[in-house]
Amino acid sequence: MATIKDVARESGVSATTVSHVLNSTRRVSPDTVERVEKAIEMLGYEPSGVARALKVKKTYSIGMLVTNSTNPFFAEVIHGVETGCFDQGFSLILCNTDDVLDKLVVHLRALMMKRIDGLVVMTTNGDPQFFKRLEALKRTPVVAIDTGDADVVSVINDDSLLGGRMAGNYLASFGFERVGCITGPADHPRSRERVAGLEAALQTSGTKVPANLRAVSDLTVQGGYLAMQELLRLPAQERPDAVFACNDLSAMGALCAIHEGGLSVPGDISVMGYDDIEYAAFMSPPLTTIRQPAFELGHRAAKVLIDHLKTGEKAQRTMLLKPELMERSSVGTSNRSKGCAA
Ligand code: RIB
Repeated sequence: MATIKDVARESGVSATTVSHVLNSTRRVSPDTVERVEKAIEMLGYEPSGVARALKVKKTYSIGMLVTNSTNPFFAEVIHGVETGCFDQGFSLILCNTDDVLDKLVVHLRALMMKRIDGLVVMTTNGDPQFFKRLEALKRTPVVAIDTGDADVVSVINDDSLLGGRMAGNYLASFGFERVGCITGPADHPRSRERVAGLEAALQTSGTKVPANLRAVSDLTVQGGYLAMQELLRLPAQERPDAVFACNDLSAMGALCAIHEGGLSVPGDISVMGYDDIEYAAFMSPPLTTIRQPAFELGHRAAKVLIDHLKTGEKAQRTMLLKPELMERSSVGTSNRSKGCAA
């Protein structure tokens, strides 16, 4: 395998000059750069990542801890982080924690051994112990996504309070009498904000989510299915005529439960979700939802982190990205309001 000395010999310069060309650590004449690059190509020289890291005290690698990359929302965020890293010459090391502290500790130890330059964290339940463990990273800058406030370089979130309000205003515009809600876990910060926004908007129009029309899910398809079944067990006259689910996966489960119960969407019950994952437009019926800028969340996190690595400058502590209403056909005028039998 060719070494840096072979490249130096072939291009008629010192190994130090070759190193400056590789790491852009000093200006080198264009003619010399061209000679070195031709020698590298001819010899098939591959710089040693370890040697480079030791020299410039950087590995140009970013670690990422994510709850689980199987959820399409997280997958889109990860794609944004990876693209942001690639755009600036960094690679990404992805670790699934399933929000389990023991797994987090193992992953953190592995990332520290790989001398990552920075860390992106996406944890939905925002366990304080989670961020306490991160203190072990000491000088490694951290940017968090989709979590509550944390002592990190920056927290980048969807503005879920606004998103919940958008959902509430939209549902209120149809004049539904009984709006239900499938929430996330009680400790889920984004779910809490969406429900608060929904309630605030509904209150403005003189209504609210009755306690018996609120069902808790784990924000999975099955969780939404079970939560909707709970709402369907209510007497017909107490059933919701519209349901807001705090994410698209639980909305998907709700659609399944409604159809299994022999009811129609939106004729008997309207359904609205949150995230606008890729599948939302292809659900039956296509899901009306609130789109959170998942790719942009990830891309912005990578850019903020790498800019901080390069400049050392403080970043804006919390950034909220604006959600968007995606109107499809799972929300519409209820049959009951048309005087049809449910
Ligand atoms: O679908 C997963 C949900 O939990 C998303 O809405 C995201 O905000 C995460 O917190």
